[in-house]
Amino acid sequence: MEIAYQLQQGRVPSDNMLSEGSSFFKGMVLGGIFCLVLSLFGTFSPTIPHPAEEHHDHHHLKPHSKEDMQKLSKTQMSDLTKLVRVYCVIMVTPKSLLHWVATNNTWSKHCDKSVFYSSESSKVMEAVDQQEKDEWIRLRKAIVHAYEHADGLRWFYIARPTTFTIIENLKYLVLVKDPSQPFYIGHVEKSGELEYVEYSSGIVLSYEAVKRLITMFDDEDRCPEQGYSLWKLSEEKQLATCLKFSGVFAENGEDGHGKGLFNKKGVNELISESITQNPDDVVEACCSDMAITYSGMSHSQMQVMMYGVYRLRAYGHNFHDSLMFLPPKNSDND
Ligand SMILES: *[C@@H]1O[C@H](CO)[C@@H](O)[C@H](O)[C@H]1NC(C)=O
Repeated sequence: MEIAYQLQQGRVPSDNMLSEGSSFFKGMVLGGIFCLVLSLFGTFSPTIPHPAEEHHDHHHLKPHSKEDMQKLSKTQMSDLTKLVRVYCVIMVTPKSLLHWVATNNTWSKHCDKSVFYSSESSKVMEAVDQQEKDEWIRLRKAIVHAYEHADGLRWFYIARPTTFTIIENLKYLVLVKDPSQPFYIGHVEKSGELEYVEYSSGIVLSYEAVKRLITMFDDEDRCPEQGYSLWKLSEEKQLATCLKFSGVFAENGEDGHGKGLFNKKGVNELISESITQNPDDVVEACCSDMAITYSGMSHSQMQVMMYGVYRLRAYGHNFHDSLMFLPPKNSDND
């Protein structure tokens, strides 16, 4: 268990947010007045007022380099591959049934555990029936449920059924990261002072991040279940705010060349955009070889992605990967 932690490169958890409680409430009230005044003057995107102590810009989280991988011993590598196990929290509604079925039959099989959380029960599909319509309350309940059923899994991945995910690349990104440190990773966006991981491209949380979050769920002032009273924030921003008060900050997942690994768009959309914008370098310009997610995919596009990622191959070609992530037992591994 030790080695993953030794490989950790000088990352210190930031706890400075934990003591900012009372100033937040003052901030909320002042910010609320400020927001009401501003909204009289036209469109204004509300943000959570930030505590006095400013946090610097978000981190850029990259996977271990190929060279660094080669330095690991065989036992270190096999320990690491066994340690990175992912619990997939997939938020569905009966309305998204086609995507739900497609996700069940494609990428989610590569999660070590995948659980569907549904707003209402479904006759066709198995899910945790949340009997709840509010997206933020649903998300909170799903996270608590996942934490209580983690069963030794130390990484959580939250996705919608329209997000195609390559779980092995997600594992590679967090391979040498210590899940007992607070990690909150994905495609980072900024809204005012709040940096949050965008929901449709998937949200990765370490065990420690979820643990802190669940404690924060009890704090009705800083992380209210009913949302902040003066305005309604989207659930991705609510989540980021609660995490921020727990000292957990959003980190952008990138490859070695700085290309984003979590994509807000589908691969087809990104490629067609790139054909017009970068006709000489279409794929290189848009899409990482180690991409983790593509969003807004149709259910049939997901089947094509499965073919492209897991089945189509050049016979006899060796990718020289240093290690293998095996799919969970009883998975048909397509
Ligand atoms: C969902 O996936 C499970 C496990 O792979 C499978 O047994 C089940 O038939 C799938 N459900 C549907 C409706 O495709």
